[in-house]
Amino acid sequence: MNITSAQFVMSNSDISKCPTDNKAEYAFIGRSNVGKSSLINMLTNNKSLAKISVKPGKTQLVNHFIINKEWYLVDLPGYGFAKVAKNTKQRFSKLIFSYIESRTTLINLFVLVDCRHEPQNKDVDFMEWLGVNGIPFSIIFTKADKLSKQKLKDNVIAYEKELLTSWEEMPPYFISSASSGLGKDEILNYIEETNKK
Ligand code: GTP
Ligand code: MG
Repeated sequence: MNITSAQFVMSNSDISKCPTDNKAEYAFIGRSNVGKSSLINMLTNNKSLAKISVKPGKTQLVNHFIINKEWYLVDLPGYGFAKVAKNTKQRFSKLIFSYIESRTTLINLFVLVDCRHEPQNKDVDFMEWLGVNGIPFSIIFTKADKLSKQKLKDNVIAYEKELLTSWEEMPPYFISSASSGLGKDEILNYIEETNKK
């Protein structure tokens, strides 16, 4: 699939104010600084669509972007970064859960994890919660440009091993780099396929 247009629609701290036109949506979630906003910019070929920062906690609201005038990409605040103040963390997590629980148009949640790190309890527990609650999700291993091919492979295998201790099968997963564009076609094709159903 090609993205021919991508525009910012709105930012919300109140989920009831998010778009109500029933268009399909795909959201990006994960720890602060994992690269959610950068990935949205990479997928849409627009370096300044979503705001990014080296400092965690940049995205503070639920941001809707309309793609090809047909469906939404949604940029969410991050969860669980130690350097973000406790009350900010609680506010983000309330917003995230309220988003997930109320958006009936959400087709798939992309859970981003940094490919350099070992599986973190926060992410694994979150995926467990998604599974229990029947929220469709897939995983994106981000920042692949920061590792050698072999190390990347080893880390993905280690992650898979960890998840398979409690899951019968691995959820769909992708490997991405916002700087090289790796993973772009696979992620967009996946969106196209799931959007048809
Ligand atoms: P919050 O909004 O704070 O939750 O963060 P985020 O997950 O949206 O991360 P963001 O896209 O703002 O990126 C955080 C930092 O990581 C920025 O300095 C990005 O340039 C960098 N970054 C993101 N993706 C990649 C990537 O694929 N490769 C490399 N090398 N750096 C990346
Ligand atoms: Mg962000």
